[in-house]
Amino acid sequence: MRKVPRDRYYRKALKEGYRSRAAYKLLQMDGRFHLLRPGDMVLDLGAAPGGWSQVAAQRGARVVAVDRAEMEPLPGVLHLVADVLDPSLEEALQGLPGKFHLLLSDMAPKFTGARATDHARQAGLAHRALDLAQKFLRPGGGAVIKLFRGAEEPGVARRARGMFQSVRLYEPPAKQQGSAEVYLVAEGRL
Ligand SMILES: C[S@@+](CC[C@H](N)C(=O)[O-])C[C@H]1O[C@@H](n2cnc3c(N)ncnc32)[C@H](O)[C@@H]1O
Repeated sequence: MRKVPRDRYYRKALKEGYRSRAAYKLLQMDGRFHLLRPGDMVLDLGAAPGGWSQVAAQRGARVVAVDRAEMEPLPGVLHLVADVLDPSLEEALQGLPGKFHLLLSDMAPKFTGARATDHARQAGLAHRALDLAQKFLRPGGGAVIKLFRGAEEPGVARRARGMFQSVRLYEPPAKQQGSAEVYLVAEGRL
């Protein structure tokens, strides 16, 4: 788990056995939007170290977790070590039985410190998550995708509005103070 000194969600995650403080963001979004259902197939992009996958698996979902980093195995979770920008990931996903009910993306690029570059890379990952939603989400399915506030945000949201019945932008209380992150919560894949 990444260290965020004296952060209350970091301490809570250690105490409650979650692999990352990020787990609370998904728990809060699920509390608000009721996204996770037992038996559903969930695709978790940028899953390591595994907090979101852990939450989804605890709710009874069958999870496919994708990250370019390795992560410790979790019960009920199939982990694919892959870069989501690599087209070969799609072959692996096509080999799975059935499409997904829910796509999660908490992917974040390696930060360079140059705000415009980081923002553009984050938007690139969000667009890639939407590409995969287009191909691998079943009709009626949902998505939660991390974005950064800024110039590219309206374009990502506009594209999502063309793909889903409902799209909202939500900042869970557990987000890092001062962070530009916001989550696009999309429901009802058209
Ligand atoms: C904020 S962490 C995710 C935390 C996770 N949701 C959790 O609850 O533990 C972002 C992850 O995105 C992954 N990531 C970033 N770019 C990626 C890419 N192109 N392909 C696959 N994973 C990527 C990173 O390796 C990192 O593990």
